[in-house]
Amino acid sequence: MKVGEVLISEEQIQSALAEMGAAISRDYEGKDLLLVGVLKGAFMVMADLARNITVPVEFDFMAVSSYGAATQTSGVVRILKDLDTEIEGRHVLIIEDIIDSGLTLSYLLKSLKVRKPASLEVAALLRKVDIQRVPIDVSYTGFEIGSEFVVGYGLDYAGLYRNLPHVALMEEE
Ligand code: IMP
Ligand code: MG
Repeated sequence: MKVGEVLISEEQIQSALAEMGAAISRDYEGKDLLLVGVLKGAFMVMADLARNITVPVEFDFMAVSSYGAATQTSGVVRILKDLDTEIEGRHVLIIEDIIDSGLTLSYLLKSLKVRKPASLEVAALLRKVDIQRVPIDVSYTGFEIGSEFVVGYGLDYAGLYRNLPHVALMEEE
């Protein structure tokens, strides 16, 4: 596999994050917001999206693993790092790089809901529309894409390419 053509440019990503940030700032006016980034993939979205949010925000991170080195979801989600923060009574917004089958996120949502946050919403830069197996309510989405495997802007293939400023397709050698 190698990196192929650019699917979503740096400019397109940044302008989508500006819009998402503006919407989040409007919706959370007067509320204390806790952004929860899902590592590792969401680190870029988290940093750039947060710069477009004007209400006061706190940050926390969770790390989960669902894929290993393959390009297909296994359905097995492991929590590698839990939150540092208590979320009871807090307005929690989960930041995701990409929602594919929805398995990772539905597992996360279930395990966070029982901690009784005041609200629990999801923002994702990318959403694969063809193959979502678990229906999930995503309040803020950047782009809807097909079922192709993509890398860049936090997304990896076997640990690589997370540093690309754009989203690119992976293709056969
Ligand atoms: P899901 O459980 O199938 O929704 O998988 C979500 C996770 O799988 C994402 O947070 C990514 O880490 C990874 N993933 C899904 N699709 C892609 C892709 O096209 N490129 C890179 N990682 C992906
Ligand atoms: Mg991820």
